[in-house]
Formats: sequence, C-alpha cells, structure tokens
Amino acid sequence: MEVIIAENQDQASEWAARKIKNKVKSQPNSVLGMATGSTPLSLYKKVIGFFKQESIDHSQIRTFNLDEYVGVRPDHPGSYSYYMQKNWLQPLGLSDSQFHIPNGNTGDILQECEAFEALLKKWGPIDLQILGLGRDGHIGFNEPGSSLGSRTRLKSLTEQTIEDNKSVFSKVDSPPRHVITMGVQTIMEAQEILLLAFGKMKAQAVKDFIEGPITSMVPASILQMHPKVQVFLDAEASSLLQNQDYYREVFANKPDWQMAELTL
Ligand code: F6R
Repeated sequence: MEVIIAENQDQASEWAARKIKNKVKSQPNSVLGMATGSTPLSLYKKVIGFFKQESIDHSQIRTFNLDEYVGVRPDHPGSYSYYMQKNWLQPLGLSDSQFHIPNGNTGDILQECEAFEALLKKWGPIDLQILGLGRDGHIGFNEPGSSLGSRTRLKSLTEQTIEDNKSVFSKVDSPPRHVITMGVQTIMEAQEILLLAFGKMKAQAVKDFIEGPITSMVPASILQMHPKVQVFLDAEASSLLQNQDYYREVFANKPDWQMAELTL
C-alpha cells in the first residue's frame, strides 16, 4: 500500500485525477469503479477537466458504482444514480449503457445483486477502483463486521453513516437505512485501487486501516492484502499515522518515472 500525503484535498485530488486520466489515455476502454459522497467530487471535476483539456478519448470507458440506496428512485436528488448523472455522465456526455449502478428501487434485491455481479463478471475486472472511506472504516457500504469475503448484497447502514449522509435528503424524506453495495471481496478484485480520505474526521479510520490489524471491524483494513493500492490523504487525515514521516520521505524520493503518472 502506498500512502501519499498531500498538503490539502486539492493537491491530493489533482494527483489522483492525473492518475485516472493517464489510465484512460493509455487504455481507452478502461473499466472504472466509482465512489460517491463528498470525497470524490473535486476529483471528478478535475478528471473531467483533464479529459477536455487534453482531448482524451473517453468514449469507450465503462463505469461501475459501488453502491446505491434501497427504495430511492434513480431520479431522486439523494440517489447515487442522480449524483453520477450530475457529476459524471452529463458533463462527459457518457451514455447510460456505459454506466452501471445497482438498482436499489427494485422488488427483488437478491436478483439485482446477482445481476450486478454478473455484469461485473462480463465487463470486469475493474481496472481502477476509486474509494472513499467511512468514519468507521467502511469501504463501499461494508460497515464494520462485514465479511471480508462478501460480494454484492443488501446492507443496513449504521446510525453514524445514516447521520453522515442525511444532508442530501430533504427534511420530508427520512434518509434510507439500507443499501445495495459491492462486497469487500468484490472490491478486492479490482486490478488497482485509489482510496481518498480528507479531514480530521477521517484520521482515526485512516490510522486504523493502514496501520492497524486486518479485521472485519475495519473493513478497509483488508486493502493491506491488495497488491496495488494508493491512498491519497490531506495533512489532517494523515495526522494520526505513526509512520507519516516515512510515507512523506518515500513520496519525496519517488523515481521520476513513477511520479509521471501523478504529475503529467
Ligand atoms: C459511497 C461510498 C462510501 C463513501 C464513504 C465516505 O459510494 O461507497 O464508502 O465513500 O461513506 O463518504 P464521504 O466521501 O461523503 O465522506
């Protein structure tokens, strides 16, 4: 796992965005795994900007989202489908056929989870998976206690996660308690993973998943077992890491050919 500590969110998002842009430039039919929430918003804006500035052919990419709320219509402003339309598909002019997200508004959740896994099998593996991090160490919506071998399924959110995410739901709608999420094992099958985490609120979860034991109580800790993970942090999110000086030193001395994918 490579831990990259930037001064701030903007710098971290820029490095990660260049990495994604360079991936699509070298492999125009890349399959990207997408996260939602507040963390990747500036990342997506930057990727879209780079695609446009450098006329990167993104007409063949295909994206798979990690998760979706159950019982929320795709056109509801709180749904992740709506988020993706607004922040990714529309600005890039991508077609719906290039975009996959679990349908949480279905009468048959089990069938939906199986169909999503089947699509991943058909088009996957995911070349580059983008992840955010929950304050409790969740990835996707694999809350603490999730099986590290889990696949796409129904999950119940913790009270803390419901609280963290409720602002996108208006006062009249109660925030959803259930989601369909890719499982921990599903996420681990991505060829390469970029996880972003920013702010003091994430510092404890960052420390736990990078430097703590691998445990289902911190689902992100399984990433220690993945051969290709880069973690992009701002100074606040990295503040509790025991080895932060070492991570900074490694990054400062990264060979030019490795830096190129983050800076060019
Ligand atoms: C969202 C997702 C979640 C979020 C996490 C952090 O698709 O899978 O794991 O990445 O809850 O959310 P933010 O970025 O809003 O702090």
